[in-house]
Amino acid sequence: RHSLRAHAHAHGLVYGSAVRVHDLLTLPEYARLLSEQCGIVVPSSELKWVALRPSRDRYDFTQGDALLAFAHHNHMEMRGHTLCWHNSVPDWIKTDQNRPDTRQLFIDHITTVCRHYAGRLQSWDVVNEAILPSDGRTDGLRKSFWFEQMGPGYIDLAFHTARAADPNVLLTYNDYGVEFDDKEDAERRRLILELLRGMKQRNVPLDAVGIQSHVKAGQPYGFGKGLADYMESIRQMGLQVFLTELDVNEDDLAYNDVEKRDAAIAKIYSDYLQVALASPAVKAVLTWGITDRFTWLNDGPTHHRKQPNRPQRSLPFDSDFKPKPAYFAVRDSFDHR
Ligand code: G3I
Repeated sequence: RHSLRAHAHAHGLVYGSAVRVHDLLTLPEYARLLSEQCGIVVPSSELKWVALRPSRDRYDFTQGDALLAFAHHNHMEMRGHTLCWHNSVPDWIKTDQNRPDTRQLFIDHITTVCRHYAGRLQSWDVVNEAILPSDGRTDGLRKSFWFEQMGPGYIDLAFHTARAADPNVLLTYNDYGVEFDDKEDAERRRLILELLRGMKQRNVPLDAVGIQSHVKAGQPYGFGKGLADYMESIRQMGLQVFLTELDVNEDDLAYNDVEKRDAAIAKIYSDYLQVALASPAVKAVLTWGITDRFTWLNDGPTHHRKQPNRPQRSLPFDSDFKPKPAYFAVRDSFDHR
């Protein structure tokens, strides 16, 4: 088989994709592509607080369960994403006038969700994107809702709670902005490693680190020693590495020619994976979507895009589910491992 799934598997990796469950359930052709190419899937937003908790007293597992059924039917694994993220706090928590103990709400949520999927997931992104240097703290912690409510201890608490509810799932800390050899990413790497070291010292149950891998084409800097050293530090802590949200933002490419853009995008995939897959700590590679038909980079308001009229070609398959140079770049990178 010439699938990414098979090529990854042959080199000790699992390959997969983020999935919007609605797309999967409404488009059989898309379901077929996923089942051919993926050994693992992750729901892109269906397990976040906002989706799971329409109200304080309701948990809606319908979408997550549907993806898990699809995954198991096709002999795939599934990741959980995410138990704690600053960007998915339901309004009902924030606006609740007589807010009961947020800490208890947090513990109850993580316990309920982890128990629901206990024994059935490959890993959980327990805490997502906790570091934000520009918030000005010396430990780099983001001043998120969870942080403001509970202080820095919310991170350890999330991991302990998850472990108690599902003893075997791999518990992951997931973050972005560590891929490039520039000053900004170097600072983020330093702060994340400091966080991870502290957690290890305090015996917090932590198994893996997610490197989101939202990378960009057309940048002046590349991938190299910074990323390699970062992965080696993680490996030395006894942790696995998952590339959890790989895609290539091509907004900065100055030319419109599709062939040229596809070649540039493919080269970024190759360059990135050449450095990343050199680390034996890397066990899984997931792209954030698999087809350009469904990429968050083309979603919603385009205010963050420099080229609003040029849909991005960020993923291995085009919007008609045909493999692009990026697909072959990823496949070859697996083969060179
Ligand atoms: O499903 C509802 C639909 O019923 C409703 O009509 C519609 C109206 O807005 O919203 C739909 O939900 C949207 C959901 O995506 C479905 O795809 C949410 O509004 C929208 O906020 C949500 O966006 C997701 C975003 O995270 C926020 O959760 C993106 O798909 C997802 O790709 C993105 O993923 C994040 C990772 O979790 C963390 N790292 C960065 C990455 C990209 O931003």
